[in-house]
Amino acid sequence: MSRLQTHVLSFAEQAIDEAARLILEGEPVAVPTETVYGLAADATNAEAVARIYEAKGRPSFNPLIVHILNIGSARSIADLGPVSLELAETHWPGPLTIVAPLRPGSGIAPLVTAGLATVALRVPAHRAMRALLKAVRRPLAAPSANLSGAISPTRAEHVVRSLDGRIPLIVDDGACPGGIESTIVAETDGKLRLLRRGPLEIPGAEARPDGPLEAPGQLASHYAPAKPLRLGASEAAEDEFLIGFAGVEGDSNLSDRGDLVEAASRLFDLLHAADASDSAKIAVAPVPDQGLGAAINDRLRRAAAPR
Ligand code: TXA
Ligand code: MG
Repeated sequence: MSRLQTHVLSFAEQAIDEAARLILEGEPVAVPTETVYGLAADATNAEAVARIYEAKGRPSFNPLIVHILNIGSARSIADLGPVSLELAETHWPGPLTIVAPLRPGSGIAPLVTAGLATVALRVPAHRAMRALLKAVRRPLAAPSANLSGAISPTRAEHVVRSLDGRIPLIVDDGACPGGIESTIVAETDGKLRLLRRGPLEIPGAEARPDGPLEAPGQLASHYAPAKPLRLGASEAAEDEFLIGFAGVEGDSNLSDRGDLVEAASRLFDLLHAADASDSAKIAVAPVPDQGLGAAINDRLRRAAAPR
């Protein structure tokens, strides 16, 4: 990726206006929440979400948390069960994230959920994130604003250290009051499961007794197509649906101009479409293993692994 000039603006109307302008242009912007600084992008714009991954240099796609202003917005995106709704009423705005089934037509880009049928939602309490949500009037996907593998930033200076030259703007509103990422829960059949421990203790939310917490990149929370998948294909066999890239034309194409941001933004859409096609198998053209390509290949390798 090319090096950007990273501006740091103190929280004020002008900073939020500038942040909103960038978000609506499809750029990621760092903004504080009550837990940690987040790297926010328009959750309805797949290329904007791909730029989050590009900036973080993350070698894999994890589903991201979608931030909204209130329960009404949450309900327009996901079907919250009764227990989740009660939790939302009690703890939102606040450091609680709820995973719930996506509603059809929610407009959330598939890259946000990494192709899953569920979405993680949170109503933040911090004035800067709330002002930005009000200004852009759309949901914002935001993981912590740090390079992949680095610790979560709780001050604008931490974000500068990690992402200087990789994002256009950091909104500085001092130290985050919390410092620990939100608690994540999911409701299934009226029962709560704890997916990530965080600042809030949720009575009745248990981690799976037999294994690790599910949220951070665990296989169970990852989408993979049902059909067998072959990598590095330059042409399709008779029973294959070929997903092309750059010079390799397919039945569909991740990016015919070989653009990795575009390819990342289309990946889960095209996998779903290939899975739903008449062909028995899926083949995918080679994707270069640099930058976002590494995350794309990680996802494809997992999808191709025998299950
Ligand atoms: O405090 C926070 O939650 C911060 C601030 C910026 O809001 N955000 C944050 O986002 O920690 P992120 O993207 O780093 O964490 C997302 C976590 C991951 O562990 C991911 O696996 C889980 O949420 N997650 C997201 N969607 C999920 C889903 N549909 N099912 C299961 N887990 C999900
Ligand atoms: Mg993180």
